[in-house]
Amino acid sequence: MSRHAARDNSLLIRDIGTLAAVPPGPLTGERMQTWPLLHDAALLVRDGRIAWFGPAHKTPPDEGIATLSAAGGTVIPGLIDPHTHIPFVGDRSAEFIRRVAGETYLQILEAGGGIRVTMQAVRAASVDDLVAANLPRLRRMLAGGVVRVECKSGYGLAPEPELRQLEAVRELARRQPVRLHATYLAAHAVPPEFDGRPDAYLDLVADPALLADIARRGLAEFCDVFCDRGAFTVAQARRVLERARAAGLRPRLHADELARIGATQLAGELAALSADHLEHIDDAGIAALRAAGTVAVVLPGTSFFLGIPHADARRLIAAGLPVALATDYNPGSCMIESLAWIMSIAVCQLRLQPAEVLAACTANAAAALGVQSRAGALAVGYDADLVLLDVPTLDAWLYEPGRPHVRAVLVGGRTVWEMRPDD
Ligand code: NIG
Ligand code: FE
Repeated sequence: MSRHAARDNSLLIRDIGTLAAVPPGPLTGERMQTWPLLHDAALLVRDGRIAWFGPAHKTPPDEGIATLSAAGGTVIPGLIDPHTHIPFVGDRSAEFIRRVAGETYLQILEAGGGIRVTMQAVRAASVDDLVAANLPRLRRMLAGGVVRVECKSGYGLAPEPELRQLEAVRELARRQPVRLHATYLAAHAVPPEFDGRPDAYLDLVADPALLADIARRGLAEFCDVFCDRGAFTVAQARRVLERARAAGLRPRLHADELARIGATQLAGELAALSADHLEHIDDAGIAALRAAGTVAVVLPGTSFFLGIPHADARRLIAAGLPVALATDYNPGSCMIESLAWIMSIAVCQLRLQPAEVLAACTANAAAALGVQSRAGALAVGYDADLVLLDVPTLDAWLYEPGRPHVRAVLVGGRTVWEMRPDD
């Protein structure tokens, strides 16, 4: 890859073998895979945004501006992971091994394990500890082409440690280039001191003054609830999310993961930005999400890691829902930080086409975070968050999982990660 010193705020990316011109989301149905692939292309960045792209022979005169060669590879919009449980600390490998031996996630959760184990570790961690443990994770995600990540609290399970997790997200955003979006997920589990009193716990963590304070300080943009068997009921989730929405935190929901209890209908009713998991969704749930324009976030890494059936992403796409993919990266149900791995599962096991997978991890993931008017697409005026891959086509990329393909990552037009020349 050749690069010349920048003389102004412009950069020309040339020698692009395939340019994945994903349009702005949300994309549904056929539109998830019928967007343009330009061959032998170039792209111009100005002031951190995409200023032009098209066939190489039509490149505007570039006298003196910085250039970056894609060396015949593929250029895609930066990948977006719209559902993670970063920042967390602690180890739950013992629980993982118990599951391998036959216990289920729900059995372990109901026996007091699971989320509460991570809660103990997070309660004992300072903001600095949380930052130190999660910076390398974000660094590796960036090296995998991920430029924007949603981060949830939900392991403090009391106001102070929940806010500490959100403060850690803010600090992480300052310390590295991946763009972060914080979600308040105190309604993730009932902590031991509130055993048998979930409503009293929710009154504490969904207190209107506390929610207003979180929103006012910009500590979170979204509020999420784990609404499932073994977690919170639909009535409880509604109460939390209505209060959150009144405080200015947009709702999203963990829905239909372990059982179908009506969480997707609630997501639709509240016009949640996303409903995530959906392994047990039915036609009524699909209709509710569709009517509300809610993004369906599918998390195939969780099914893989827990050994449970996948969400039927083909059915969701056929039903006209904008489908996004995410890692669900967390220490209990999916200790997989690699979005590339999730994309491979989506192709090989959910039978998504490579173009659909990319749309799910860019345009539709941006829509799940409410940033589709500036991110997740290859469009003039959009953030120049771009990934250069070492393969000539999209198909070649997903055909060969299990090895890194990212040559360089740009955020706001700046190269923030590059493969070493001898890699
Ligand atoms: O998305 N479902 C709830 N929350 C996580 C699991 C969290 C944990 O086990 O620590 C999930 O699967
Ligand atoms: Fe999750």
